[in-house]
Amino acid sequence: MDLQPGSERSRFYAEYDWEYRVNTSSATVDWRSRLLGVFHSPYQPTEPALFHEMVAGLRIDFEEFIFVDVGSGKGRTLLMASDYPFRKIIGVELLPELARIAQENIRLYSSPKQRSFDLVSMCGDACEFQFPPEAAVVYLFNPLPKPGLERLIGNLEQSLKEHPRKVFVLYHNAEHEGILAGGQELRSTGGAHQYAVYASRSGAGF
Ligand SMILES: C[S@@+](CC[C@H](N)C(=O)[O-])C[C@H]1O[C@@H](n2cnc3c(N)ncnc32)[C@H](O)[C@@H]1O
Repeated sequence: MDLQPGSERSRFYAEYDWEYRVNTSSATVDWRSRLLGVFHSPYQPTEPALFHEMVAGLRIDFEEFIFVDVGSGKGRTLLMASDYPFRKIIGVELLPELARIAQENIRLYSSPKQRSFDLVSMCGDACEFQFPPEAAVVYLFNPLPKPGLERLIGNLEQSLKEHPRKVFVLYHNAEHEGILAGGQELRSTGGAHQYAVYASRSGAGF
């Protein structure tokens, strides 16, 4: 995905920040985080229309689920997820500066559409993240290179074995989809050309 300053897309992204008086654009990432992003995965926020298509398309009872964004950057997805009545919303971000900005965005965000108010931006390596033993929507937008994603999905699979429950994975730009497809605990349940949807087998019947 391109994100050139002055392009239609960058104008669209800035509109989100203007509308909600937050700072989620990639254009204003400081040079240090930008440099670190080269070694990990550069910050790029999810487009609102696509996010709502993915989440609303799940057709679940949101109140049963927590939402986890793996590699949450400045937290735009956390804000957008809070327009649904998730039990709790958790972001995990490697770069301290981005995690700090996400916290500030959570504080600033105000929308008549907001339905969930328990939001947290954590700073840490998602590969070490301990998934809470709760029904969850796990969101991935290119957060990790292949080895890191293998570790993360391995941890999720182990968590599902220990605590069978309903979990959906929304994988935006599913570059390494084979990692999810190759596991034992997740199965493909749909998607579109920009994303894939997986669900836990242990949640079968929903
Ligand atoms: C493409 S951005 C997605 C941002 C956000 N999820 C969204 O959709 O708006 C990927 C993010 O993953 C973060 N990241 C990269 N490696 C990570 C790791 N090991 N643990 C946590 N976050 C990581 C990057 O710093 C970046 O902010």
